[in-house]
Amino acid sequence: MKSKNIVLGVTASIAIYKACEIIRRFQKDNLKLSVVMTKNATRLISPQVFSSLTGGPVYCDEFAGPANWTIEHISLAKQADLVLIAPATANIIGKIANGIADDLLSTLILAVKVPVYIAPAMNEVMFNNKILQSNIHKLKKLGFGFIEPIRGKLVCGDVGVGHLASVETIVKEVRRGLR
Ligand SMILES: Cc1cc2nc3c(=O)[nH]c(=O)nc-3n(C[C@H](O)[C@H](O)[C@H](O)COP(=O)(O)O)c2cc1C
Repeated sequence: MKSKNIVLGVTASIAIYKACEIIRRFQKDNLKLSVVMTKNATRLISPQVFSSLTGGPVYCDEFAGPANWTIEHISLAKQADLVLIAPATANIIGKIANGIADDLLSTLILAVKVPVYIAPAMNEVMFNNKILQSNIHKLKKLGFGFIEPIRGKLVCGDVGVGHLASVETIVKEVRRGLR
């Protein structure tokens, strides 16, 4: 596959460790990756983990200081061929569905013209919540791609739908989006 730029948005789900596998898998496909983490995601896993895997900076806070004298949500948006948010919390889905831009990742989503894919991961009750489902429905109608969560054992101990889709499924959907 010709080298393309993917922005991987990582949010504060317990499935965050899967983002490491997703990065590894994309690297096999010769895809270039920029990782954007929410502030809460950095409380679950250090940005250094992703930085070590990608060999590049991890973008967390556009107010932190100009790394390259650029406005990060705009420069990242210009470089991206596709944005993938995996894992995606109920919170980021709600923010995107309502046009909220209060951090780097949610602002970036408003600044891109390229395909955006969202892979939700959460407890089944949260996933089935009518507010979340209505947000997902709205985003699907607006053209956002959703990589549906699967049934499996959730971290809370329940078995249900809400488990992040498999890495293979995520990669397959992203490849389709890049065509
Ligand atoms: C250990 C832990 C695991 C969590 N896992 C999830 C999850 O899988 N899905 C989800 O939607 N929220 C989860 N949350 C709640 C979110 O982290 C919370 O809604 C947060 O505000 C999301 O921030 P972000 O969307 O900016 O990353 C978890 C919280 C904690 C402390």
